[in-house]
Amino acid sequence: MCGRSHGGAALALLPLLVGLLPLGAVAQVGRNSGADFDIFLPRGNNITVLIKRGTLTFCNIILQRKRLSSLTINPGERAIFSFDCPQPEKHFVLEVQKNIDCMSGSCPFGEVQLQPSRLPALNRTFIWNVKANPRVGLELQFSRPRLRQILPGDTCSDSVTYTISSSLEKTVVNIGTFCSNGTVSRIKMQGGVKLELYLPWDQNRNFSGFNITNHSSIKRLCIIESVFEGEGSATLMSANYPKGFPEDELMSWQFVIPPHLRASVFFLNYTLSNCEKKEERVEYYIPGSHSNPEVFQLGDQQPGNMAGNFNLSLQGCDQDSQNPGALRLLFKVLVQHLQNEGNKVYTVDLSKEKAMSMTIEPRTFKMSRSFDRACLICEGPRKCNPNVTLTAGHKHEISFLCDDMTRLWINAEKTISCTDIGYCTRKNYSLLVPSDIIQLPVELHDYAWKLLVPKDKISLQLTPTQKLQQHTHEKNCKTTFSYVLSSAGQGQNLHFGSFCPGGAIEKIQVKTNISVVLRTYSPGFSNESFRQGMTVTFIHSLKDEGVFTVTPDSKTKVYLRTPNWDRGLPPLTSVSWNISVPNHHVAHLTFSKDRMGVSCETGRAFMIIQEQKAKAEEIVSRDDEPLPKPKDLHHNFWVNISNCSPMNGKQLDLEFCVSLTPKKMDMTVIILAAVGGGATLLFALGLLACYAKKMSKKKKVSKGPAVGIYNGNTNTQMPGHVGKFQKGRKDNDSHVYAVIDDTMVYGHLLSGSNGSSTGPEVDVYRPFQGPMGDVPPSPPPICSRVSTRKLHPEDPLPFLLPESDGEPYTFSHPKPVEVKENRDNDIPLLEKKELENIME
Ligand SMILES: *[C@@H]1O[C@H](CO)[C@@H](O)[C@H](O)[C@H]1NC(C)=O
Ligand SMILES: *[C@@H]1O[C@H](CO)[C@@H](O)[C@H](O)[C@H]1NC(C)=O
Ligand SMILES: *[C@@H]1O[C@H](CO)[C@@H](O)[C@H](O)[C@H]1NC(C)=O
Ligand SMILES: *[C@@H]1O[C@H](CO)[C@@H](O)[C@H](O)[C@H]1NC(C)=O
Ligand SMILES: *[C@@H]1O[C@H](CO)[C@@H](O)[C@H](O)[C@H]1NC(C)=O
Ligand SMILES: *[C@@H]1O[C@H](CO)[C@@H](O)[C@H](O)[C@H]1NC(C)=O
Ligand SMILES: *[C@@H]1O[C@H](CO)[C@@H](O)[C@H](O)[C@H]1NC(C)=O
Ligand SMILES: *[C@@H]1O[C@H](CO)[C@@H](O)[C@H](O)[C@H]1NC(C)=O
Ligand SMILES: *[C@@H]1O[C@H](CO)[C@@H](O)[C@H](O)[C@H]1NC(C)=O
Ligand SMILES: *[C@@H]1O[C@H](CO)[C@@H](O)[C@H](O)[C@H]1NC(C)=O
Ligand SMILES: *[C@@H]1O[C@H](CO)[C@@H](O)[C@H](O)[C@H]1NC(C)=O
Ligand SMILES: *[C@@H]1O[C@H](CO)[C@@H](O)[C@H](O)[C@H]1NC(C)=O
Repeated sequence: MCGRSHGGAALALLPLLVGLLPLGAVAQVGRNSGADFDIFLPRGNNITVLIKRGTLTFCNIILQRKRLSSLTINPGERAIFSFDCPQPEKHFVLEVQKNIDCMSGSCPFGEVQLQPSRLPALNRTFIWNVKANPRVGLELQFSRPRLRQILPGDTCSDSVTYTISSSLEKTVVNIGTFCSNGTVSRIKMQGGVKLELYLPWDQNRNFSGFNITNHSSIKRLCIIESVFEGEGSATLMSANYPKGFPEDELMSWQFVIPPHLRASVFFLNYTLSNCEKKEERVEYYIPGSHSNPEVFQLGDQQPGNMAGNFNLSLQGCDQDSQNPGALRLLFKVLVQHLQNEGNKVYTVDLSKEKAMSMTIEPRTFKMSRSFDRACLICEGPRKCNPNVTLTAGHKHEISFLCDDMTRLWINAEKTISCTDIGYCTRKNYSLLVPSDIIQLPVELHDYAWKLLVPKDKISLQLTPTQKLQQHTHEKNCKTTFSYVLSSAGQGQNLHFGSFCPGGAIEKIQVKTNISVVLRTYSPGFSNESFRQGMTVTFIHSLKDEGVFTVTPDSKTKVYLRTPNWDRGLPPLTSVSWNISVPNHHVAHLTFSKDRMGVSCETGRAFMIIQEQKAKAEEIVSRDDEPLPKPKDLHHNFWVNISNCSPMNGKQLDLEFCVSLTPKKMDMTVIILAAVGGGATLLFALGLLACYAKKMSKKKKVSKGPAVGIYNGNTNTQMPGHVGKFQKGRKDNDSHVYAVIDDTMVYGHLLSGSNGSSTGPEVDVYRPFQGPMGDVPPSPPPICSRVSTRKLHPEDPLPFLLPESDGEPYTFSHPKPVEVKENRDNDIPLLEKKELENIME
């Protein structure tokens, strides 16, 4: 027996009941003429129609010239009515209620009709109330596209909504609200069922979309079946969600999964009630499992990577009547293809590691679409998660359920701390990304080592396997990875910069706790991982925040910059570079700008250059003075930069460049030796004479305008710009510029004019007293601050420095110091964004 045959019976009865009806009335309902509607409900259908106001309105139903605010049409009744307003759908809603009594008589099983048809176009709700014996199961079958459960309060895109509830003894249990677009194919219930289908007024759907059949007892509140035909996901919830699940009830979900796909379950939200007896739990039947049913607590990691159909049951408990609490569960089933990687099991052996952990996680959190294909990482056969943290001390077996491994990345962290000074100063540590991590098909993002030492007792020394290059605008890191070094000292973070293999930095010493982050910038680190590696040793406490040992080779320029580039060196911080100059070479030192550019609030900032030889002079520049012009150095030397307490805005960041050239002196000697003869000797003597003349000229002008020797053939810059790096210059190494007048650089130091006016001066630095070459220079104490550099007798003869074929010439340099300073600040020498980009 099905609904259709009942309808047929009603039609057959119709003439008997209504007698002489006009032809149009053979249809049970119909729109008569104009705005009139005609609804007739045969008695046997047990259908009631209710039209009621949905909003407060003055619109009425006109029935037999009477104005009504609502109209109920009972089984066996006919109503011809109209509305006294033009758009009744804005004011009235319609409810069609059909009672189906399966307790007495036979149930109208089969396809459920949307009756009556041709109703006024109002928002309407069809309600089927099926009464059945509590021991009889009822099954609702939904046609494609099936149902999709939504959270209470959510709406369906087409507004077509099913609400299903069950009557359990006297109470109504809400099974769920669904849209007509999903995976739910069947809902089995026991006892009575109430199904409401809401259709908006403009939906002219003429089918209900479901069948009712009877079923043997299901012995639980309900069973919801989801059928997946391909990849997809379903979000489902316990009955009454978000309210509590009925006490001591059982609810099940069945999942039909195509054989080539894998399913994973995620509990999105749950709460537990207060159980007096029994335990709230979920049970799975998983194909291939030897321990079915597999019982899980709600707080457990739920199974994933399941092949084949499975089912899941939620079991409530006997609740504490005083304080029952609420059991509720919201979960998601994700079904997707097994990827090639899914068959591979990777071993990550962290059993020998300590204080280390690594996370494999999604690279970005995308907005969730209808089906968010997940990238799952499985530990063991079923424990699958979108992110996984592997901890030290264990051996992990992992596999991937992920179509696109580039959506994942790895972040790892390891802490190395020195607590026992005596012990750790004798030990060293290697910073290496373990090969088990490199072999994973997931890209490494960050591997961070936190190196912790007791404050002011121990400092750290980092010795890279391959010498490092500092990432600068002039010379970018081209490797797939860099080391990002930062420390937290003096209450602020100090970012030392990014360093990559293939440079001149041999050693980095840092005063205090530091984090060394190996960060990859492009895929392919696994191919380049042989270039990684750093050894950490613990050394005696440093005075400087950082000391860089730099051994340039003769072919390339080395660019170095102060830490905290962009934000400025922190106040009262000092950094040094120990730069070696190989035998028979001259180092050429150039600063990127003419002045430090810092405005001191208290104290002074210094830049000191000191050659590492006996009786070497310190070349000192203060914040209120120009930096030295490009300078040639013949011995290993120190560069020390110490900050004052700067005012806001004008911070200290300095970049300089070191390049090596073979010593010209040697060339001359070679030429002399090779050529010999009086003419050459005469030529050489002539050169010397020329030099002597220039020296005397230099001395003469030393109180006046500065004089430089300038290689006109290779450099056409104005002297004022000469310090700036020329990016992209092909012939960079030929760019030679020698300053021979030290008063040009130290004039301000001598006169001491600007310096003393900036308020109280704080001497935070101790003068350098240690052995030459071992320890970087420090700024002079206040009393000696006006001292200047004198040309040391051992200094090489400056005239030999220019690597020029042409005749060096001299020119007057007008010293436009103040003007230059302003201009400097306007010239964005280095793009500030650049570092940020690479840091992210
Ligand atoms: C009918 O439904 C529409 C949305 O589908 C709504 O805007 C309108 O207010 C409803 N009408 C009544 C009378 O509730
Ligand atoms: C209509 O309701 C009556 C009384 O509830 C019941 O006896 C009858 O079987 C119902 N008819 C149908 C078709 O459900
Ligand atoms: C309902 O039952 C009818 C007849 O058995 C069948 O043709 C139809 O496909 C079924 N519909 C659904 C949604 O299961
Ligand atoms: C629903 O309407 C379509 C055409 O609009 C028709 O083919 C179909 O038979 C109708 N179904 C019912 C159950 O009335
Ligand atoms: C379903 O109902 C029919 C008659 O109404 C009955 O013959 C059949 O045994 C029932 N099936 C189940 C599974 O209860
Ligand atoms: C989980 O439930 C809590 C409490 O009802 C709610 O605040 C939270 O938004 C829910 N989370 C999700 C993902 O639904
Ligand atoms: C779950 O699956 C198992 C094995 O297929 C079956 O025995 C059991 O009845 C199923 N339970 C539910 C509620 O579907
Ligand atoms: C089905 O549901 C998804 C997810 O909400 C939605 O994006 C899609 O438009 C829906 N399709 C239909 C036909 O309603
Ligand atoms: C996964 O990420 C979430 C959110 O960041 C976090 O709460 C959870 O603990 C992570 N799980 C694992 C296993 O790392
Ligand atoms: C590290 O220690 C080992 C032995 O403990 C030693 O052979 C090696 O030279 C040390 N390396 C450094 C860079 O100190
Ligand atoms: C470095 O870390 C250790 C351990 O966390 C801490 O005791 C010490 O004070 C830190 N040093 C500095 C300078 O913050
Ligand atoms: C790594 O090297 C292998 C073999 O040389 C090559 O096939 C692969 O493309 C390289 N990967 C990257 C990301 O460069």
